[in-house]
Amino acid sequence: MKSIHLQIRFLVPLLVTLTVAALLALPLLDRMTLRWFSRDLSARGAMVAKTLSLAISDIEPNAKLDRLRGLLERGVLDERLVGIALCSATNEQILSTKGFPGSLTCGEAREIAKKQDPRLELSSGAVHIGDFPVNAQQADSDRLVLLHDLSLPDRRSIDTRRYMIIFITVLGLAVAGITMIVAQLSWRGWVSGMRAILRGEGLVRPLLQTGTGSAVADSAPPELQPLEVEIRQHLRELEDNLYREHGPLTPWDPERLRGLLRTQLRGDQVIVVSNREPYIHLKGKDGGITVSRPASGLVTAVEPVMRACSGTWIAHGSGSADRDTVDENDRVAVPPDTKDYVLRRIWLTEEEEQGYYQGFANEGLWPLCHVAHVRPVFRESDWAQYRAVNQRFADAVVAEARSDDPVVLVQDYHFALLPAMVREKLPKATIITFWHIPWPNPESFGICPWRRELLQGMLGSTILGFHTRFHCKNFTETVDRYLEARIEHEHATISYQGEPTLVQSYPISIAWPTDDERLRWPAPSEARRAVIERLKLPDDACIAVGVDRFDYTKGILERLHAVERLLEKYPQWQGRFVLVQVAAPTRNALEEYREFQDRIHRVTDRINQRFGSDGYQPVRLLAEHHDHAALMELYRAADMCVVTSLHDGMNLVCKEFIAARDDEQGVLILSRFAGAARELPEALVINPYHVEETTDALHRAANMPPNEQRERMASLRMTVREFNVYRWAGRMLADAGQWRLRERITRRVQRRAREGSEAIDA
Ligand code: F6P
Repeated sequence: MKSIHLQIRFLVPLLVTLTVAALLALPLLDRMTLRWFSRDLSARGAMVAKTLSLAISDIEPNAKLDRLRGLLERGVLDERLVGIALCSATNEQILSTKGFPGSLTCGEAREIAKKQDPRLELSSGAVHIGDFPVNAQQADSDRLVLLHDLSLPDRRSIDTRRYMIIFITVLGLAVAGITMIVAQLSWRGWVSGMRAILRGEGLVRPLLQTGTGSAVADSAPPELQPLEVEIRQHLRELEDNLYREHGPLTPWDPERLRGLLRTQLRGDQVIVVSNREPYIHLKGKDGGITVSRPASGLVTAVEPVMRACSGTWIAHGSGSADRDTVDENDRVAVPPDTKDYVLRRIWLTEEEEQGYYQGFANEGLWPLCHVAHVRPVFRESDWAQYRAVNQRFADAVVAEARSDDPVVLVQDYHFALLPAMVREKLPKATIITFWHIPWPNPESFGICPWRRELLQGMLGSTILGFHTRFHCKNFTETVDRYLEARIEHEHATISYQGEPTLVQSYPISIAWPTDDERLRWPAPSEARRAVIERLKLPDDACIAVGVDRFDYTKGILERLHAVERLLEKYPQWQGRFVLVQVAAPTRNALEEYREFQDRIHRVTDRINQRFGSDGYQPVRLLAEHHDHAALMELYRAADMCVVTSLHDGMNLVCKEFIAARDDEQGVLILSRFAGAARELPEALVINPYHVEETTDALHRAANMPPNEQRERMASLRMTVREFNVYRWAGRMLADAGQWRLRERITRRVQRRAREGSEAIDA
């Protein structure tokens, strides 16, 4: 059917073109054939006139008229000659034959004969007029005027036209026929080529047939070969997405996530495990208790998912009032207002916290995975604590599980060993581990003395997720280098000791703000006024914000260098440009962090001394915790948000800034080394190590016209709204659902087979 449409689309214009060509060509052809006939008649006329002239000159003068008449009458016996007149040089008619019209004077006839088309319409038909001297040597010679019948050329012209039409029609039909056959053949070729590719034959069959690796070159038609690999890859991705999203293409929201849990996971219990807890209870100075939300990308992402799914979240109870707020089972319902899920706290001793968290996780794995020029430190004692704490959390998971097959969501590098530990006790559990930080290349990872144990622990997971495909690839290559495992790239699985793990990328995100939430936000102009007043900024300040944990991976030093260079290179910004840097306190117990934070304070002071003046400081370093509302106000007040991570799994600050800007204003400057840069190309993407490039991006952002800001921001907002955190969780849970279904079916089939063989034995 498609090929017929294709041919019709091709044939109709072809036929129209041929018809137009015929309509244009026929009059032209007509004119040409008449010109040829006219030339032919003139030549014939000249011959006749010459013959007659010779005869006329032989006639005796007194016998002249009668003899002449007889001569001319014989001349017109030629069927093509209608009439002849002998005219004097002064155009008097001396004599003429019968067929020569009486009304036509010699003068008129000779005038017409001079024309390019010497044609005269008579009642008896059209004639061609020729005018010839009787004696060519004599200037005042008599003239012979010959009238040739034009009905013959006219008849021939009609015949020529008819033949021409027949020729064009036959030609058109022949071209159309050939076109149809060629189109049909080549369409079939394409279709069968495409079908072969989709069936996988393009890759597989030639391999089987030839046993060589030149499958692609052998299989698809040559014109498809460059496309083949790409098309297959895209199709696989499409299929993958459809399979993951599984269901109507509605936006991802809490409701859809809950539906997915109900339908695909049959409402199975969800247990989250992370080091950082989502709510920290703290003792206030007045003896009261306050609740705080930690600065953590992990918490920002997983908390809304838990609100939607309910279940239990197991985390380290690190707040000074945490023990005062739990029940006898160390549980507390959170969030404090809606109590959607249970937070189960685990208490760690100082040694445990020191060895597992500060030591192995943050001095070892954190710099190991971030490759941010800080040497990882691996201590035997830290490793022992790391193992022990992983076991304690694993035991808590088993204790919290209400069935033998809960869905366990393991978060981050603090728990690399936990998946295998849980698997040992709950073999049927679905364990989804998400690694929130980058995964380095095999060489970098290889410096860890316990690399094999870490990989074995992680491969206890059913699904292992990273932010980007690049991190998945690094992980798979690391396993390939250090373990004996079966890797199936086609299915993105790694089977270790017979147990498969799906290794996939799931880019994390945020919950898109609800309408209720947005109603509580200040208008951008109000937010700006409030921030200017509170921080005592110039009224016309150009405000850049940076919001980070006070961590050496965030590129805060590089950001300060870029601000300093901006004020040097573009002095017009002195007195106006201000970087408001929020740096949430983190991991202060570690020397590396304390030194880094001191250095940032020193550089800030230097820049402020160099470029500051009364009432103006180019850098405002706010090294304290900010709650969500305060951050929203800052984001909405800002002219730009600056994210300069030296290496970051995803970075959710940039997504929060985008979500906050419902006025579609504000510019995002984003490090290309943050996972988010792959999703948000409308940001000004920079290399934070290149100070000049970041400086120019700051200058460009400060000068960007509102229209360009709007275009970029609108597009960024579309991406973040659609690719939100419910989609992140939904895709993982949908994959888990498929996995569980497959497992159940396999188990059932195996049981029946076993029962069958037992019956036969009996
Ligand atoms: O988002 C990455 C992350 O490492 C989380 O795993 C962690 O909760 C967060 O940063 C903050 O770190 P910490 O919990 O050590 O303060």
